[in-house]
Amino acid sequence: MTGIFSAKASAHANIAVAKYWGKRDENLNLPWFDSVSFGVGCLETHTEALWIESSESDELWIDGVRSPDLGHIKKIVSRVRAEKNWDKSCIVRSENTFPSSSGLASSASGCAAAARAVSLAAGLEYSDRELSRLARLGSGSAARSIPSGWVRWYAGTSSDGSDSYASQIADADYWPLKIFVALVSQSPKPVSSRLAMKISQESPFWTAYKEQSSRDADLVQMALEKRDFSALSEVMLRSALNLHALTLTCRPPICYFEPKSIELLRMILDAARKIPVCCTLDAGANVVIVCEETASDWVGGQLETLKIPYISTEIV
Ligand code: PMV
Repeated sequence: MTGIFSAKASAHANIAVAKYWGKRDENLNLPWFDSVSFGVGCLETHTEALWIESSESDELWIDGVRSPDLGHIKKIVSRVRAEKNWDKSCIVRSENTFPSSSGLASSASGCAAAARAVSLAAGLEYSDRELSRLARLGSGSAARSIPSGWVRWYAGTSSDGSDSYASQIADADYWPLKIFVALVSQSPKPVSSRLAMKISQESPFWTAYKEQSSRDADLVQMALEKRDFSALSEVMLRSALNLHALTLTCRPPICYFEPKSIELLRMILDAARKIPVCCTLDAGANVVIVCEETASDWVGGQLETLKIPYISTEIV
């Protein structure tokens, strides 16, 4: 069979307000509990995939540099190849609009864009649910970068992962919140989230963490239904800080914070008593600040004063 098997696709990064951390199945990236995120404007991956008749191995290029292997997208490419019963090779070229591996969830947008481009280039027209499951194989949080807006990833219970996918729970315009991504550090994180999640399950606090985190997705959804910023803030902050408390109590301890992360965190905690502002941190030093329109000038001003570079954006 001959033909042109190429396609282009894009995906946004997402930031979780009820975080995913820990896996019930490492191979399929199946989480223990549901998580909820929003899509972040300006943080995007654009990907082109090409399937060719070749005896050479697959190739992955990120921001113009060839990666030594397919990394996170290996399982995505293998799954599509198996589905087509092909022996073609796949060339994937990705461009990020932000620095990779800096706690800005580049694996989420990267794997989601790859799932779309690689399957489309193979002529497979998957639904969003199927794409979410495919993206999940590359990186768990990528399951949430397929739908837009506010997204819930259902952990599911089946051992094959068929019921573990993400769906939109509210569209991007539902609640016009402002997002500031404070670029505290642009260097790669000290420990990958993959490894940190594994070690975290040995923390003495793992059972308590898992029990409390299992309720967070429902709490976020309730806060969303009422557009209740204070309820959203409470769970957003707790979900992030519980995750960092867990990594800090690992053996060896994993500390993702930089001094500037703590400075920002303290500033936000203080301000949150007076104005509608909150923040979250993924497994990295960067701080994502979420606020209502009325607090947005204050946040921008503070970041300028502290001389922390930032991206000011909205939910997409
Ligand atoms: O999908 P991974 O393996 O990059 O894990 C991401 C985990 C967090 O970003 C810290 C939390 C989340 O829910 O996105």
